Amino acid sequence: MLNNFAVCGLLNIDYPIIQGGMAWLGTAELVSAVSNAGGLGVIGSGDAPTEWLGQQIRRTRERTDKPFAVNIMMMSPFLADNMKLVADEKVGILTFGGGNPGGYLADLKEAGVKVMPVVSSIALARRLERLGADAVIAEGMESGGHVGETTTMALVPQVAGNVKVPVIAAGGIADGRGLVAALALGAQGVQMGTRFICSEECVAHPRFKEQIIQAHDRATIVTGVSTGHPVRCLENKLTYRFTELEKAGASKAELEELGKGKLSLGVMQGDIEQGSLMAGQIAGLIREVKTVKAIIHDIMAEAQQVIDALGNHRMKG
Ligand SMILES: Cc1cc2nc3c(=O)[nH]c(=O)nc-3n(C[C@H](O)[C@H](O)[C@H](O)COP(=O)(O)O)c2cc1C
Repeated sequence: MLNNFAVCGLLNIDYPIIQGGMAWLGTAELVSAVSNAGGLGVIGSGDAPTEWLGQQIRRTRERTDKPFAVNIMMMSPFLADNMKLVADEKVGILTFGGGNPGGYLADLKEAGVKVMPVVSSIALARRLERLGADAVIAEGMESGGHVGETTTMALVPQVAGNVKVPVIAAGGIADGRGLVAALALGAQGVQMGTRFICSEECVAHPRFKEQIIQAHDRATIVTGVSTGHPVRCLENKLTYRFTELEKAGASKAELEELGKGKLSLGVMQGDIEQGSLMAGQIAGLIREVKTVKAIIHDIMAEAQQVIDALGNHRMKG
């Protein structure tokens, strides 16, 4: 069985599989299921109020005694309060999305917190490594949610070649082949979002899960490039409207107004046309809702098969 991953030692987990922090969906149900199955569950604080985050931390602790993390969105209006809360609650592992958490690293290191920022460039990865990041999550533009500009295939080996800390690959990974590919590119583990939405434990609305199951390879689109906050979602009436407005030169304020409240409308309330359905390009590969335990088990088993099969190839020079 695949073992010996630096991230497993660093995080005290069994498998090099991290559940990406997801706004609204990274709740105690999913987080504890992933951690109990041997991966790392991550609470997605998104832009939820600090009180909500506190509840999720407590509920997660009721459900698991395994390590878990909190994802902090740098764009959250509750950033300062959330940082205070995770310090008070002594959360041992933090991931950061949507910006540069550099200013917090010295205090976090001092407190012994393990920090894994999401990066989409070598420059940010190197800067955060210098400031003390324990690992970096290199996230390609295939992924669901907020995206950078470089693909996972191109980004991961370049980041891995430029930092000494372990690299976790994210974006476009949903099965054992993806895990092996990430390892081949120099990553020590993977972070998955879209695959875990289609788990039995994820609180996403069944209609959203069904949209992912029905998705094909070109079902997603990136909107919001003009606002400086590009986001990948399943295409629907909301993304058509957003794209139309962007093409017509709508102001940032107008576009932000259109996006307000749409993520919960889509992913929690199941309005698949007017809500935002953040998901990655790998949605087209996902064909069933499974338990978290089965997802992790199947990925590890398939990865081992792929490695064994690859072992039969011999490259002639
Ligand atoms: C619905 C959804 C919400 C997300 N919310 C966040 C978030 O709040 N913070 C963050 O750092 N990443 C967020 N992400 C990104 C995931 O953590 C993860 O890196 C990404 O989904 C990986 O790509 P994949 O979807 O191809 O697996 C989100 C992704 C999705 C699909």
